[in-house]
Formats: sequence, structure tokens, C-alpha cells
Amino acid sequence: MKLFVPGDAAAVAVGADEIAEALSAAGFAVVRNGSRGMFWLEPLVEAVIPAGRIGYGPVTLEDVPGLIAALHGDGAHALRLGDPEQIPFLKNQTRLTFARCGIVDPRSLDDYVAHGGYAGLRKAVALGAAGTVEEVLQSGLRGRGGAGFPTGIKWKTVAATAAAQKYIVCNADEGDSGTFSDRMIMEGDPFVLVEGMTIAGYATGATKGYIYTRSEYPHAIAMFNAAIRTARAAGYLGGNVAGAGFAFDIELRAGAGAYVCGEETALLESIEGKRGQVRPKPPLPAHQGLFGLPTVINNVISLATVPTVLANGAGAYKNFGMGRSRGTMPIQLAGNVRHGGLYETAFGVTLGELVQTIGGGTLTGRPVRAVQVGGPLGAYFPPALFDTPFDYEAFAAKDGLIGHGGVVVFDDTVDMAEQARFAMQFCAIESCGKCTPCRIGAVRGAETIGKIMQGREVAKNRALLIDLCQTMKLGSLCALGGFTPYPVMSAITHFAEDFARSPLPVAAE
Ligand SMILES: Cc1cc2nc3c(=O)[nH]c(=O)nc-3n(C[C@H](O)[C@H](O)[C@H](O)COP(=O)(O)O)c2cc1C
Ligand code: SF4
Repeated sequence: MKLFVPGDAAAVAVGADEIAEALSAAGFAVVRNGSRGMFWLEPLVEAVIPAGRIGYGPVTLEDVPGLIAALHGDGAHALRLGDPEQIPFLKNQTRLTFARCGIVDPRSLDDYVAHGGYAGLRKAVALGAAGTVEEVLQSGLRGRGGAGFPTGIKWKTVAATAAAQKYIVCNADEGDSGTFSDRMIMEGDPFVLVEGMTIAGYATGATKGYIYTRSEYPHAIAMFNAAIRTARAAGYLGGNVAGAGFAFDIELRAGAGAYVCGEETALLESIEGKRGQVRPKPPLPAHQGLFGLPTVINNVISLATVPTVLANGAGAYKNFGMGRSRGTMPIQLAGNVRHGGLYETAFGVTLGELVQTIGGGTLTGRPVRAVQVGGPLGAYFPPALFDTPFDYEAFAAKDGLIGHGGVVVFDDTVDMAEQARFAMQFCAIESCGKCTPCRIGAVRGAETIGKIMQGREVAKNRALLIDLCQTMKLGSLCALGGFTPYPVMSAITHFAEDFARSPLPVAAE
């Protein structure tokens, strides 16, 4: 009998390797698939039966003998979940980018092709380079790394810039708190990213691609490097890609895990072997990027979405979503949440639905007090704003951002002044040091919040903090310093009571 046991780092972290070994030793054919993204069920073992797949989870090593007996018998077991795709968390999703994740064997190019892989590249070649750029433009796809810039416009700029060499850079640094969608794609369906980067190369005339990720992602690095080698051996990378008469190849670079190296220009510096410091813009990377040459920089999810956009057509993709946020977003539910994991759905779902209905509220069972959306630079939303739809503009209108789609849940024991101080401390530690508002401002910000927490001259320090946030917002060179005020100001605005500390006795001042 064939079994699937995820090799995804999140499953491995809770014992999937040992379970795979034990099941293998018992004579089962074990495939290490990606995760389905239902982390509370990991390790989720799936058995292939004539009718489809049957899931069991979360499986511990102690459960394995009983599971083996069940698999040799009628399949009945206390951990039996039935068809994983009928579990509401998975069933209610719209999986376009993650269509194959958890289903295919991520090491098998044949499996990828059998599940519709490379249909996007075939379509691109049929449309021609300019037609491909136009299709991506028409789909309304916006960058999933954080800024939400239209992917097609970026590609058009690079395509229109003449140069002997151009580059595709895939941003797989994934530094945002509570995010893991890039990692899941690299580990669970790496060929879709190889295909997306290849289409980007074809469309813009770039022959070389770099993927930049962090050394904290060893499983993703191993899996993606294996995919590059396999694709190259099969002629999907190299001098004549898929016999279509164009060249493209990919190299992976692992950084040391600095948050600022996810910022596109610092990332370019890092690939070039320099210290990860932000470059002023202009020039835009599309004009002068890697090694001073025209470069497309896109997030993993932006690029991994391109094959489905091409294969099914821009219109099909654009049909999902709301307003200017078209298509689907792989949202990542994390923190103190009962059903944490990856939930891909069309833009427009409300924050409340995500946290309370889909996520099932907090894991501790206490009331939700705050939700941080969009990583460490994202605003904290109180339940009063849970009617906000997941949409770039709707979040911006409430002084927030959706960023890379990370949603981190906190219960009513959270101290929001402490969270605000943490935002400043994070910025101080991760600052590249290039500009003063961020380098100095973050240190002063953390100190000032510390004084408020001690009850020292609260009103004066609160006003000073708000003024400092304004300076950082307007005067920073990049979004690290420029957006750190968002978590801080949202904490002050929505959780003002946490900043109203009682004054210290005079003697302690
Ligand atoms: C401090 C900082 C960190 C960032 N980290 C990431 C990251 O880890 N991954 C990412 O894709 N984009 C990150 N970005 C956004 C990138 O600068 C850039 O907008 C993105 O790679 C563009 O790709 P996209 O258009 O496909 O989103 C970061 C930006 C800043 C300011
Ligand atoms: S805002 Fe911070 S991280 Fe960005 S360039 Fe300035 S010092 Fe560097």
C-alpha cells in the first residue's frame, strides 16, 4: 500500500521523519509529500485506497503499531479523518497556487507534469514573450511579497529595457513573522516555482534566475536544489528550455537570515556578496538591479502563481477577488490559533471569518484580543475591525497592510504596550543602519515605550512617541523604518488602555 507522510518542515518538526521510517520499515511504500497546510493534524499520514486517499492524524510514534494493524485490516482507527479534501478547512479553500501541494511527490517531475505542470509554459510559448507579459498584466496579479505592486508592470519594464544580460530574482527570504507559504511551495511543489521563474525569464528576455532564501530553511533548500537538478536533466532548464529555443537556468543562494535582506535592494547586495544594506531608489531594480543590470524581483508566491494564470487564462484568475485585489491569497494563520495553517482563498474574506470561523479562535480558548496582519511591520487589529475584508486597499484604509498574508493571533493576556516596544526593538536589531530615522529612531522608540510602561511622564512620552513614529514613517529610506510605526501606532490607537500606566511614585522617578 502506498502512503504519504509529509516531508514538510512543519510536519518533520512534530515527528514525521520517525513515522515515515517506521512505516517504511513495516513494508509500506512511503512518499514524502508536501503538507496540506492543516498543521494541527500533522503528521498527517494518507493511505491510498481504490476510492482515493484516507487521512490519519495527528499520528505519533506510539500510534504507529495500531495504524499498521488498521491499514492491514479495515482501516478503522481513532485517528481516521476520512478523505482529507473533505475536511472543511481544506474543502472550503480555492487552491490555485497550492493546487498540487500535499498531493504530488515533490521530487517527481513526472508527477508534476501528470498534474498539469508545464501547461503554463506551453501557453506562454504559444503567446510569445509580449503576449505572456500582457496575460500576467491582465490577470491583475500583484506582488505577494508585501508591497502588492502589479507583477505585469514590473515584467513589462524589464522586457522593455535593452541589455545583454537580464535577471529574474526570486525573493524566498520569507522573514515575516507567522509566514510559511514560500517554504511550503519550495518543499511541497518546487517545480511550480521553477516553471514560474522560467516563464518570467521567457517573457522578459532574462536567461539567468537566482532564488534567494535563508539558511534557516534547510529542507526547502535541499528540495529546491533537487528540483533545479531534475528540471535541468529533463531539459526544462538550460540552453534550449523544453525545446522552445530559449535559454534559462536557476541558481539558489542562501543568506544568513537578516530580515532586511528580504528588502529587494538589500537582497541584491547580498547576492552580489556584499553586506545586506538598502540601496536608494531610483534606479529601480527593473532598470539597474543585480550587478547593475535589468532585474525582475518577485516573491515566491507571485512567481508560483504565474503557471496557473497562464494555464487557465488571465480571465479565470481575475474572476476571483475583490476591487483591485484579484485572484487568491495563500493566507497563513499562526500564533495563538486553534486551526493554524495555510488557507488559500479569494481576496475578500473578512478578518473575522479567518480568525474565528476558519482558525477556530484561540488555541488557549480565551477571547481573541489582537491580530497582527502582514508581519512585524503590520498593524494590530482589534475584534472591532474584524469586518475588514482581506484586500490591499481595505487594509491600507485602516492603517494596516496584508503584506505576505501572515495572520498572528493573540488572546486577552497580551500586553499591547509590550508588543509595541517589541516592534521598535525588532526594528533596532534588524535595521541596516543606512538612515537615521530608523537606526536611531527605533532605539529611542523602544526606550520611550519602556518609560511609558514604567509610568514615567506618560502623557509627554506618549506625545513624543507619536511624533517619533511620524518622523520614522516619513523620513526612512525603506519600509523597515517606514512601517515600524504601524504596529506601534495601531497598538496606541486600538489598545490605548495598555499605555495608560499609573505614574510611578515620585521617589522612583
Ligand atoms: C524590510 C523588508 C523586508 C522584506 N522582506 C521580504 C521577504 O522576506 N520576502 C519578499 O518576497 N518580499 C519582502 N519584502 C518586499 C520586497 O522588497 C519586494 O517588494 C518584493 O520582493 C517584490 O516582489 P513581489 O512584487 O512579487 O511582491 C521586504 C521589504 C522590506 C522593506
Ligand atoms: S529604514 Fe532602516 S533598514 Fe531601511 S534603509 Fe533605513 S536604516 Fe536601513
